Amino acid sequence: MKPEGLEIDVAQGRDFLAIAGLDRRAWLDNRQPEFIPDGEHAWRLWVDGAHVFVAREGGAIVGAILAFPTLDGALCVHKVMIEKSRRGQGIGTRLFDALLAEVDRRGGANCFLTVDPGNQAALRLYENRGFTERRFVAGYYREHEDRYVLTRPARRSE
Ligand SMILES: CC(C)(COP(=O)(O)OP(=O)(O)OC[C@H]1O[C@@H](n2cnc3c(N)ncnc32)[C@H](O)[C@@H]1OP(=O)(O)O)[C@@H](O)C(=O)NCCC(=O)NCCS
Repeated sequence: MKPEGLEIDVAQGRDFLAIAGLDRRAWLDNRQPEFIPDGEHAWRLWVDGAHVFVAREGGAIVGAILAFPTLDGALCVHKVMIEKSRRGQGIGTRLFDALLAEVDRRGGANCFLTVDPGNQAALRLYENRGFTERRFVAGYYREHEDRYVLTRPARRSE
């Protein structure tokens, strides 16, 4: 289903507080949610210096995706999050499509992300968007916080 009135666009500087607020709410059902949100000051920098796309609806931000380039020329998709009441409606997919189209248009890069192996919704979303290479890393964060590292090999759009 494609929600009516929903727009995907590049985040602006003025959006950082709203995105940081979403970041504080979006992880409450995940494991160790208290450690996941980035701070407001980090979001202020992300919106100026990284790829940040948002889903807007009626003046509110209901979803966001963030990626930044790493020193070896790859792109880390650091975060994707959707307002709880708006999940399962294709918004995460649309945010990924906007981000990946931009990355491919700029010449392509290996894109990677990490995911809790128990996060079925995220795994489905990522595999559907081409993150097909999978590596398991035990204790990626704390001892019991394992992660898959998923990679989407570089593509270039014509
Ligand atoms: C993970 C998340 C970003 C997905 O966003 P979304 O907008 O709900 O995803 P979409 O509606 O685009 O669905 C993407 C795919 O995931 C599937 N999916 C969605 N919710 C699901 C669920 N609860 N269980 C299993 N699959 C699910 C959809 O069916 C779809 O697959 P399909 O196209 O093959 O049918 C969202 O659930 C979220 O914000 N979760 C909390 C934060 C989080 O965990 N972020 C990822 C951290 S690594």
